[in-house]
Amino acid sequence: MSDDYEYIEKELEISNLKGVGDVTAKKLKEAGIYTIQDLLLYSPIYISEITGIPVERAEKLVLQGYEYLKDLGLVPKDFTSATELLEQRRARKFIKTGSNNLDDMLKGGIPTQAVTEFYGEFGSGKTQLCHTLAVNVQLPEEDGGLNKSAIYIDTENTFSPDRIIEIALNKKLDPTEVLKNIVVGRPYNTVILLNMVKKLPEIIKKNNVGFIAIDSAVGPFRAEYLGRGRLSERQQLLNRFMHDLLRIAEVYDVAIVITNQVQARPDVMFGDPTRPIGGHVVAHAVTYRIYLKKAKAADLRIASIVDSPEHPPREVLFRITEAGISDP
Ligand code: GTP
Ligand code: MG
Repeated sequence: MSDDYEYIEKELEISNLKGVGDVTAKKLKEAGIYTIQDLLLYSPIYISEITGIPVERAEKLVLQGYEYLKDLGLVPKDFTSATELLEQRRARKFIKTGSNNLDDMLKGGIPTQAVTEFYGEFGSGKTQLCHTLAVNVQLPEEDGGLNKSAIYIDTENTFSPDRIIEIALNKKLDPTEVLKNIVVGRPYNTVILLNMVKKLPEIIKKNNVGFIAIDSAVGPFRAEYLGRGRLSERQQLLNRFMHDLLRIAEVYDVAIVITNQVQARPDVMFGDPTRPIGGHVVAHAVTYRIYLKKAKAADLRIASIVDSPEHPPREVLFRITEAGISDP
């Protein structure tokens, strides 16, 4: 095992599973599966593909890994009482956005163990929000952070270190430290993007990550898979991508924010003639969707939570300032 992996907790190492000998452990590690948590990120068929281990064996390993993590209390049991479910929910942590209005609407901020989608037209504040959260996650818990670091996957080349410095200075933080705690990925296409997602678990553990931004998440798929003919191929890839993200958020207790743009709906005569890209695949996979709109004043934005069973429909105002996101 290389020095890089010293940070893995002994208890979670793949070789702790009964029946995983040196040879199997080596095959798994060569495929990037170092911990029992990593094992649960993939389907047995996929594990078999990348390791050469027979599918039936991979199925057994996944089930065994699941039992192991259940015993440690790291994953929920198959059936849970409503009381336990409530406790799990309470174990969820939140990153404050900088706007009390927005935090109230989200019942505390951006939650861990979930994928939160912000969608809206250009200039609606999606990128500014991601920058702010990449800084806020680093704050101590009493100040609304998680005291953890961030990963920023920048598919549109709009990540700005200067903007991070400005936000950090406005929050009286050391900008050098803050920059050091943000790992930036710049995938040029969806193949690289999907590959980066596979590497997230490793970086999460190594850097003690609590927040991941993917800005924009859906755009690259739309740009590459053009036309009706490639729609099903696109939706299939997007589906895998979204589910990988959700699994990572749950297994590693991180908050994931994805951004998305809107497209015109020619069929809508009344109300808002736009909708987020990605159709049902994205709609079903995200835990919360928030729609951002511009308001009359140049620095004000309107946020509304869409289709949430836990949140009553409502709109709130927030502002984009030198310190990032804040209240009007
Ligand atoms: P697209 O990526 O184009 O879809 O837009 P977006 O939703 O990501 O918009 P973004 O977050 O880039 O918001 C842009 C708006 O934020 C601008 O219209 C500015 O009003 C504001 N803004 C951008 N940079 C700064 C900055 O450095 N300081 C302040 N105070 N405001 C900024
Ligand atoms: Mg943007």
